[in-house]
Amino acid sequence: MAGTAPSVLVVMGVSGSGKSTLAATVADRLGWEFAEGDDMHPAANVAKMEAGTPLTDEDRWPWLGTIAEWIRSHLADGVPGVVTCSALKRSYRDVLRAPGVVFVHVAGDPALVEQRMAARAGHFMPTSLLASQLATLEPPQPDEAHLTVSSERSPDEESADVVARLGLGAER
Ligand SMILES: Nc1ncnc2c1ncn2[C@@H]1O[C@H](COP(=O)(O)OP(=O)(O)O)[C@@H](O)[C@H]1O
Ligand SMILES: [Mg+2]
Repeated sequence: MAGTAPSVLVVMGVSGSGKSTLAATVADRLGWEFAEGDDMHPAANVAKMEAGTPLTDEDRWPWLGTIAEWIRSHLADGVPGVVTCSALKRSYRDVLRAPGVVFVHVAGDPALVEQRMAARAGHFMPTSLLASQLATLEPPQPDEAHLTVSSERSPDEESADVVARLGLGAER
């Protein structure tokens, strides 16, 4: 990828695509800080999602603002990091975008995603939201600093691929 080496990766994609798994593996491989975007939701959003109610954009702006602030402070302090955020719409990514930020889109086969979501216990995102997530998804466009990975391989293989494609050098 041309230009300055990225110092914050935003691992994006629909729920169940494998964002948290990939992001943690990439962060571990690089020795970068890791943050879970889902943990930055205001309590009101978590309650809505637990009830199976899709969030509105109005619900999302404060959440995206919190993630953007995490990104901004890491860039300002020169501390590289990896953060998860579904970032399904371009307008959401606009809030997070900055020089040094690269989006890593985990684009899994919907059938595989559904299977994994059904198997995942104790998570607040019910399977019923997958269809609306897929309908909402605006995949990153060529003018957006991003790369796309599939979650069909093992997290280890995928994270090695991400690190290599970003020119960050495999540490292991
Ligand atoms: N590459 C992978 N191979 C096999 N299982 C995976 C892989 N990535 C994620 N999973 C599993 O799929 C489920 C959803 O992954 P998760 O990382 O929680 O997705 P997200 O954070 O996008 O919602 C989890 O149970 C996880 O263990
Ligand atoms: Mg997650």
